Amino acid sequence: MKADEKKYIYTDEIEYADLSHSSVWGTEDLATTNLLNHMETGGKWLNLCAGDGRFNHVLLEKADEVVAVDIDEGALQKLVRVTPDHLKNKLITKTMNVVEPFPFEDGEFVGVFSVGTMHLFPRQVFQIIFLEMRRVLKSGGRIIMDFAADIKRTYPDGSLWIVENEPNYTQEEALSFLKEVFKDERTNFTVAFVPPEKVTLGDKEYLFTSNFILVDAVKK
Ligand SMILES: C[S@@+](CC[C@H](N)C(=O)[O-])C[C@H]1O[C@@H](n2cnc3c(N)ncnc32)[C@H](O)[C@@H]1O
Repeated sequence: MKADEKKYIYTDEIEYADLSHSSVWGTEDLATTNLLNHMETGGKWLNLCAGDGRFNHVLLEKADEVVAVDIDEGALQKLVRVTPDHLKNKLITKTMNVVEPFPFEDGEFVGVFSVGTMHLFPRQVFQIIFLEMRRVLKSGGRIIMDFAADIKRTYPDGSLWIVENEPNYTQEEALSFLKEVFKDERTNFTVAFVPPEKVTLGDKEYLFTSNFILVDAVKK
């Protein structure tokens, strides 16, 4: 699907149907995996900008139901394809633009999960998304999300791919921004690092590194 910055649609023209099982978005990092594995849950979770399904199987193991949403229908079709059969009956997928009002009721979810995406949006847009995440969450519900900072994409010849208009926060900027946004919640921030990982997106191949802030917040 084509990107459209005016609508804050940050997709890449990826033909998910042609791709094998592993995610184009890299390996599931340890900090997030550990957090999910140790979480006691159940109930209905929302996986926001779910892509082709990183971590979605872990959420499905833990939750009673997972609604995985993304703007890219092709990504969601792959997510369904890679979901183990015994978990498919707990999975619902839906296409939506995350910057528009969410098509869900107030307090519908016990948890909202989102990784690899929220750092892409301008500050004011992320704040709107955050209010929607909070609205659809029950009180006492949990937001688990990450937020990348200090992103570097290096081509094989050593040059950098600079993504135009990407906010690309430093770790300090990201942390202080998130502390302000989540000021009314009970929140834990963990700083972690993505080791260099080879990414192939269509004809682009590069090494990706970043720091990221893992946010674990409980709605008061
Ligand atoms: C970098 S990928 C991350 C996917 C997945 N969460 C992961 O970490 O593997 C970003 C995802 O956000 C989706 N996306 C981008 N802009 C969006 C928007 N405005 N509304 C909904 N989804 C969007 C893309 O289609 C893509 O699947």
